[in-house]
Formats: sequence, C-alpha cells, structure tokens
Amino acid sequence: AAEKTALKERIKRLLKEREAVLVAHYYVDGDLQDLAEETGGCVSDSLEMARFGRDHPAKTLVVAGVRFMGETAKILSPEKRILMPDLDATCSLDLGCPADEFSAFCDAHPDRTVVVYANTSAAVKARADWMVTSSIGLDIVAHLHAQGKKILWAPDKHLGSYIQKQTGADMLLWQGSCLVHDEFKGVELDLLKAEHPEARVLVHPESPANVVALADVVGSTTQLINAAQTMDATTFIVATDNGILHKMRAAAPGKHFIEAPTAGNSATCKSCAHCPWMAMNGLQNLADVLESGSNEIHVDPQVGKEAVRAIDRMLDFAA
Ligand code: 13P
Ligand code: SF4
Repeated sequence: AAEKTALKERIKRLLKEREAVLVAHYYVDGDLQDLAEETGGCVSDSLEMARFGRDHPAKTLVVAGVRFMGETAKILSPEKRILMPDLDATCSLDLGCPADEFSAFCDAHPDRTVVVYANTSAAVKARADWMVTSSIGLDIVAHLHAQGKKILWAPDKHLGSYIQKQTGADMLLWQGSCLVHDEFKGVELDLLKAEHPEARVLVHPESPANVVALADVVGSTTQLINAAQTMDATTFIVATDNGILHKMRAAAPGKHFIEAPTAGNSATCKSCAHCPWMAMNGLQNLADVLESGSNEIHVDPQVGKEAVRAIDRMLDFAA
C-alpha cells in the first residue's frame, strides 16, 4: 500500500511537471480513474474522452484506455502530444476490421452512408462518413434514416443490430464483436433475474441481442452509471466490463451491483468480464511514460485529416 501511495504521488508530481492531463476510461484500474479525477483530468465514456481531450488546453494528454482512444485524441488535436501507458492495448473490434478489407466492403456498396464505431483504427475512420460512439450512435442513425439514407455499419454487429431494430434503418452490418461483451449469456441472465426480481438490468449495447432484450437500460458506460445513480432501485445487474463497478459504487453508494453472468464467471471466475487490453493500464507504466515521454501515439497526418471529418460530424451533432 505504501508503494502504491508513493507511485500515485509520483504520477501527480509528473503530471504537473510535464503539464500533462490524464484522460481515463471507466474500464481501467480504479486507481487510475481516481487519479484522473483528482488531478483535473477526466474519467468518462468514449464520447466524453474525445471531447475533453480536444477542448483541454494541456499540450500533453495521457490516455489510459485502448489504442483507438489515443488515436482519436491525436486526430482531434494533432498538435498535442498523446501518450499511452501501453501502446499494445488494442480492441477486438479494431483488430477484426482491417482497413483494406473494410475499404473493399465500402467500395462494393457505394450507395450507403458509412458509419463506423469509435472502436476502429484511424484508417477505418478515414474511410467513413460518420464516426459514432455507443452513447450517440442510435440518435445519429435515426437522423440519417429520417433523411432516407441507407447505412453501412462497422464493426460491432451487436450494437449495429440493436440500432437497426430501434430505428428501423436499412443497415448492412460488418460482423465484428467485442470479446468481453460477447460472453454475456442471455439464458443465465434470465435465471439471475428470477433470483433477484427487484433488480434492474443495465446493459452495454455491445452485448448479444438476447442479453440486450432483458435490459431495463441500454447505454454507454456514462449512461449506465447515470442510470445506476438516478433509478429508483437498490439492486442492479450489470452487463458490461466490470471495471465500471468502481465508479458505479462511488456514484451510487448503498446500492448493490451484481455482475451479469458470462460463460465462466458464475462459480469459477470472478472477473471474466474484464477487457485484457484495458487491464494493460497500470500505475507503474503510467508513471514510466510520464517520466520518459515514451509511448507516444502517432497518426499519419493525411489519414488524420481524412478521419477527423467523421469524428467532427459526430461532435457537431452532439453539441
Ligand atoms: P463507451 O463509449 O460506452 O464508454 O464504451 C466504449 C468501449 O467499448 C470501450 O471499450
Ligand atoms: Fe474493445 Fe471490448 Fe475491450 Fe471495449 S471492452 S476496448 S470494445 S475489446
């Protein structure tokens, strides 16, 4: 514990010395989330991370999350230095949507408006008309559908089919998935609900359709935390990465949170629902990158210029 406290103090000192600000996602280690909050940084969902990074005056941003979050920050602020604790922290959605194959898919369907999820590479964003996050994807697709547009959607098939069902839009879906959310099990969730009939169910829309179907609230990480805080219930079953429980418990003290069942977590594994790439962010590597200035995110400036249009469209829509 003494070692941890010393590391945290070192990080706080380095953030000041380097005039850097820490931006963290709700799935990373709770200590990093707390540090981001205590030092004037931000802990939030992907949309807010992007907006905060763009608007903050600091010349250096340290992004505790996964690679696409660092790349989005760089695309929005090419003049800033973006550091990440571990540059290998990727995402199964990003990995499952290589830019060349995606580009060929778009070429084959030139009549469709291309909407991509934030969890993609800069090159994929460069090929898109719109980038969206889970907090605003439904509203943006509803808006495009109202204009009579047909959509090409990538890469998350579960989020895509959820939005398709809600909006009735014509959507052609890339078949990617998140390896964390894909593991939530509808049948087991139904049984768990029966054991806790008073519980409300909070689900991230990267989960499979039969899990989403059992939700009381479907939303981004920020939206799920808000629901836990404001809903008139004391017990919640949570189907998303369990890193979120740190903030949920702090935001809704006295309420009770149960992890939704995955293939392995009922008896044998207490933390199956945790992203292995988010878990690569720790106090030690955060301190190290601040000290050395290594692990900088670079995005090809031309790719960045093309990608920023899709991100700006979302941010303008959200404003
Ligand atoms: P949110 O944008 O809902 O925070 O989720 C993005 C995500 O999947 C991070 O892994
Ligand atoms: Fe990607 Fe899923 Fe990890 Fe989010 S939780 S970064 S969507 S693999």
